[in-house]
Amino acid sequence: MKLPFAESYKIKMVESLRRSTRQEREEWIKEANYNLFKLRSEHVFIDLLTDSGTGAMSDRQWSEMMLGDESYAGASSYFKMKDTIKEITGFEYFLPTHQGRAAENVLFSALVKAGDIIPGNSHFDTTKGHIEFRKAKAVDCTIAEAFDTTINHPFKGNIDLEKLEDVLKSHPKEKIPFIVVTVTCNSSGGQPVSMQNLRDVKQLADKYGIMLIYDSARFAENAYFIKTREEGYTHKSIREIVLEMFSYADAMTMSSKKDAIVNMGGFIALRSKELFEKASVFTIMFEGYITYGGMSGRDMNALAQGLREGTEFDYLETRISQVAYLGQRLVNFGVPVQQPFGGHAIFVDAKRFLPHLPKEQFQAQTLAVELYLESGVRGVEIGALLADRDPDTRENRFPMLELLRLTIPRRVYTNNHMDYVATALANVFERRNSIVKGLRITGEAPIMRHFTVDLAREM
Ligand code: F0G
Repeated sequence: MKLPFAESYKIKMVESLRRSTRQEREEWIKEANYNLFKLRSEHVFIDLLTDSGTGAMSDRQWSEMMLGDESYAGASSYFKMKDTIKEITGFEYFLPTHQGRAAENVLFSALVKAGDIIPGNSHFDTTKGHIEFRKAKAVDCTIAEAFDTTINHPFKGNIDLEKLEDVLKSHPKEKIPFIVVTVTCNSSGGQPVSMQNLRDVKQLADKYGIMLIYDSARFAENAYFIKTREEGYTHKSIREIVLEMFSYADAMTMSSKKDAIVNMGGFIALRSKELFEKASVFTIMFEGYITYGGMSGRDMNALAQGLREGTEFDYLETRISQVAYLGQRLVNFGVPVQQPFGGHAIFVDAKRFLPHLPKEQFQAQTLAVELYLESGVRGVEIGALLADRDPDTRENRFPMLELLRLTIPRRVYTNNHMDYVATALANVFERRNSIVKGLRITGEAPIMRHFTVDLAREM
């Protein structure tokens, strides 16, 4: 018999969870103004808000913490991280930062100016935020298939090469500082980009003399999908695939809170000495000296170890199979989700779940609130609240996809937790026609509003 699948680790330490009552949750969500970011974590039973910084570190990572060198300049921890990044990504230069958006802040300060155009595949919200904050524009060139959750395309993170070339052709080179490719593409559902697509984008970038940067938070999950879905890569190791992926890029920004499995950290890695020197000035201004950039020595050590563990096939198989396990349970219950399943999360299609609710009442956020009330499970809206207002017209932007993301932290929950989540959502699905009122905004910030927005139930 073929042996069944099993986790590539065992558990050494546990943290207690408490289940609450529906009545308690009614009170807590009202106090939080129907914004799940405003809940206390102890009021959540299973927390699928994000996979960012929520993973469980390994015994080896914790041992590395004890070996951290906290010297202000030239710490051995810095060199440990530098050597690991060189080995795994091939990039010669690197700058530590305290998280992914800090890497964007530093690099974009060196590269982006007002009026610039930055094409990419559904830019993540902090990336878009850092572009729009500088009065530049992010242009989405993702393939059309990504926006239909029923189409089963293996690489829904791919760039539409025609759309990209149109952008490159129709603007002067000086206006396009770089192309950004997000691997895997979070906003379209944790969907991977194929090696062929990365190669083709690089060719176009070279043709027009434009830099190519990867937003790399989940680069290892992307490599896993290339290995398991793309012809010619089955027999290559994850590390070989990762090296090839990065060989087509000029630079990368990294949120290490994802595929490097640490609770906090990030970096920029790049090939150009000149750009490294230019960006270093901003690192010193915003993050700290260039050999620590907002990170403790112990955290840099754990990050280096996490990068190694995060690029092991067995670990990635465990992780991505768990996400697919939840996805399959939901599909069995008839719940509409983005297909194929993503790397870090299952994305529930709220437009198909609550088609009778007008989009102005925030379908995905309404669904997130209903799931929390049902079960104490916290997911997150990836829809109109997150899409924010158009910076010029100040009108609400309604994206093509209105999703509830169930994001799975790394090495944290068991498949029994996944069963609980799937059953809870199936219960909400069963009573979906009784959900006739959505939510309305009562207060919001001028940019990245979804974190702090206040909502009320629609009358
Ligand atoms: N890029 C991508 C693709 C991301 O998913 C994130 C964060 C960032 C950049 C920013 O990194 O949080 O370290 O500053 N995503 C988290 C999420 C917040 O929940 O998807 P950060």
